[in-house]
Amino acid sequence: AIQRTLSIIKPDAVGKNVIGKIYSRFESNGLKIIAAKMFHLSRAEAEGFYAVHKGRPFFNDLVEFMISGPVMVQVLEGEEAIAKNRELMGATDPKKADPGTIRADFAQSIDANAVHGSDAPETAAVEIAYFFPSHEIYSR
Ligand code: CMP
Repeated sequence: AIQRTLSIIKPDAVGKNVIGKIYSRFESNGLKIIAAKMFHLSRAEAEGFYAVHKGRPFFNDLVEFMISGPVMVQVLEGEEAIAKNRELMGATDPKKADPGTIRADFAQSIDANAVHGSDAPETAAVEIAYFFPSHEIYSR
């Protein structure tokens, strides 16, 4: 089925100037960018986005990292977009990511792991709405 998913290019990858290289992987694998915006998140915005991880031991480091520089946020649309994007990203820990995945090629560590992608249809809907009102999403 055609799905939408939220993708974030994190501060490490924005700083390395590889937004275009990552976009190219989305586009050449059947994912269409139907909304996009650059943000420098406030602490409150980052904490709100990652609220499900509040209380986890990595929460503070995650938030610090996500506010350390600008991020590029996009909605991707395509056939099985959620799983497809996760496949392109590779494992959360870049050391465990398959060769040729975004994280294997561009990421350094589990925090500075280049990209985020929604993990399920329910979280995709919540995460998309967190950044984009429906009139800022351009589908067909
Ligand atoms: P992301 O997909 O953005 O979702 C939560 C982020 O927390 C994850 O990518 C990692 O960058 C970061 N993180 C740090 N440590 C862990 C961990 N032990 N398990 C999962 N995520 C972690």
